[in-house]
Amino acid sequence: MAKITFVTSDDIKTTVEATTGNIMELAVQNKIKGIDGNCGGVCSCATCHVHVQPEDWNKIEEPTELEKDMLEFDENVSEYSRLSCQIKVSDAIDGIVLKVAN
Ligand code: FES
Repeated sequence: MAKITFVTSDDIKTTVEATTGNIMELAVQNKIKGIDGNCGGVCSCATCHVHVQPEDWNKIEEPTELEKDMLEFDENVSEYSRLSCQIKVSDAIDGIVLKVAN
């Protein structure tokens, strides 16, 4: 079980709990504003872009080359950008805070 906190662009914080799936799916299920997941999680739309808090960066696996390439073309990219469909829910990410980029 992991607790995941989303912070939207209008600074609304929502904390949800999950055990499986990926972060984008979790955000869409919980109607987190700014995470649309238009491609269904196949890393081809970047509508699931989030910024990971620096202190949480090492909790998640490294992005793949495909994910890095997708992020290159998105707006508002930072060194802590990730596509949330590529982050799996697991105990390892318990307590993570993600700022919605869009
Ligand atoms: Fe499309 Fe993540 S949902 S890239």
